[in-house]
Amino acid sequence: MFEYKVNNDISLRLSNVQDAEEVFKVIDSSRDHLKKWLSWVNLVKNSKDCRYSAYKAMHQYASNNGFQCNVIYKGKIIGRLGMHNIDWTDKSTSLGYWLAENYQGRGIMTTCCKTFLNIIFKELQLNVVYVYVAEENKKSRAIPERLKFEQKGINKNVQMLSGKKIDYVRYVMTRERYFQYY
Ligand SMILES: CC(C)(COP(=O)(O)OP(=O)(O)OC[C@H]1O[C@@H](n2cnc3c(N)ncnc32)[C@H](O)[C@@H]1OP(=O)(O)O)[C@@H](O)C(=O)NCCC(=O)NCCS
Repeated sequence: MFEYKVNNDISLRLSNVQDAEEVFKVIDSSRDHLKKWLSWVNLVKNSKDCRYSAYKAMHQYASNNGFQCNVIYKGKIIGRLGMHNIDWTDKSTSLGYWLAENYQGRGIMTTCCKTFLNIIFKELQLNVVYVYVAEENKKSRAIPERLKFEQKGINKNVQMLSGKKIDYVRYVMTRERYFQYY
């Protein structure tokens, strides 16, 4: 287990079973806000479900396939940022994230994603990071845009959300682009 200090207020703690109860409370208290954009939220019915996803996340980390972190702000869990997996052939990964409703608007997730990029390009030595965002999810799209990702295409009708087919925008940060800007 690791906890990575991002700044005085924020840290990133590897997803773990001990946090599952608190993670469930955070998801449950922001359910309406989260389920608008995240299809898995309706499947999270109790803390057991969060324990199960923590076990999966620990297995992902142990398999050298990327990791999921709980976002800690002033000592409280307020969200999650993780890699979906790592393609070691292409040396690529993609990011997923969410924040509790009340902790939006402070730059917390942008700051955490910037830290993730640093780890991904400098420590893991990957070549490409993708972020896929529903076209209408303006707050989420603003994160890769703020971080200088390049928008590369729209994937039409790729995911179902609340019974509707959704178009996803693909954002790309290459290793070359990262070192050009950071
Ligand atoms: C996507 C999501 C994490 C974005 O949250 P967010 O609070 O807008 O993102 P950040 O934490 O980076 O904060 C950015 C906001 O803080 C402001 N801000 C304040 N200080 C800042 C700083 N130092 N750096 C960057 N932004 C800062 C920005 O202006 C922006 O506010 P605005 O939207 O009013 O312009 C959140 O809306 C969410 O969890 N949504 C539901 C789940 C979801 O959609 N997940 C993504 C699926 S692809």
